[in-house]
Amino acid sequence: MADWSLTGSLEERAETALRFAQQQVLGLITNHPDYFPLFTEGGKWKHGKESWTNWCEGFLGGQMWIFARRFGDEAWRERAIHYSRLIEERQHDRNVHDLGFLFWSTWRRWYEIDGDPELQRRVITAGKTMGLRYNEHGKYLRSFVAPESCFIDIMMNVGIIFYAALERGDDDLLARVTNHCLTTRRYLVRGDGSTSHEGIFDVGTGEFLRQSTHQGWRDDSSWARGLTWALYGFGTAYKFSGDERFLDAAERTADFYIDRTPANGVPPNDWEEPNPVRRWESSAAAIAASGMLQLATLTKDPARATGYGTYARTILDTLLTPEFVAVDTPGWEGILRHGSYHERLGLGVDESVMWGEYFFCEALDKLLGAPAAG
Ligand code: GLY
Repeated sequence: MADWSLTGSLEERAETALRFAQQQVLGLITNHPDYFPLFTEGGKWKHGKESWTNWCEGFLGGQMWIFARRFGDEAWRERAIHYSRLIEERQHDRNVHDLGFLFWSTWRRWYEIDGDPELQRRVITAGKTMGLRYNEHGKYLRSFVAPESCFIDIMMNVGIIFYAALERGDDDLLARVTNHCLTTRRYLVRGDGSTSHEGIFDVGTGEFLRQSTHQGWRDDSSWARGLTWALYGFGTAYKFSGDERFLDAAERTADFYIDRTPANGVPPNDWEEPNPVRRWESSAAAIAASGMLQLATLTKDPARATGYGTYARTILDTLLTPEFVAVDTPGWEGILRHGSYHERLGLGVDESVMWGEYFFCEALDKLLGAPAAG
């Protein structure tokens, strides 16, 4: 029986968690081949609950690419290729605003390892497809729910659009993605660094009408995961563009997160919800950890760099315990417990969620640095 005791230094616990993660992913794909779940129900991946939208099909392959690279494991590489190929046609999917989630975690990782331009072509096509969501009047990329809707979540998908625009020298696409980031910054990032989940616009005139939410507590409240998409996404937008307005937005959202979250680094689903029934939304914490590890490398202020790096370690110190990593929860099929997808619809509440698994593995991979040679 494997020893999953989460003891030792943070790095040793991260190594243990990544070994445990491989066991859990192997269990999922062995029990349910070619199946793409979003969240567990009672800790089980296979259940009859709906998905609301299909945006998670890259995270399983993405975890496999992380394992393949870190452990130099040919079996994980073959599985990663298989699960990447399963989503290949999604590069043309115009029904979701999530092609960054799908292709940045899979085909981009594959391309970075192999350097084959054919792999890069899928990534660029996915980025261009995302650009087709642009509303000229409102200067935003529309969400999957309606033409008048712009989600904060889309910020986590702008990296692939910047990438496609810059690789192909496509100025029109570059203008679209830049404008989307500026529109999001203006209407969805508030003065105190909190974020709104959704902006509603007049489709014809582009007039901004109001803030709204689907997964947060209230239209004027602060849904934690949405803010972490902004924190990470604005950092990525800065990385590609060098536009300091985006770095400023990333820092303000990160500062709000640090300011408003309990000392252990794990927020509830919404910071404004009075006495939250569930104390934790662990996927937001995992995204924040990975986003802050990136931001620590981008910020120009050495004190901020140290602060974001230290805070990311605080989050991971909390997550790398049996309360969160399911090492002591018999029969639990996920890696990270206490995530939430959609509380209002009752979907994936206090469960393992596929993006939580992916960004947790990504944060641990970043924490551990480059894999040892040989
Ligand atoms: N992008 C959907 C979510 O964060 O739940």
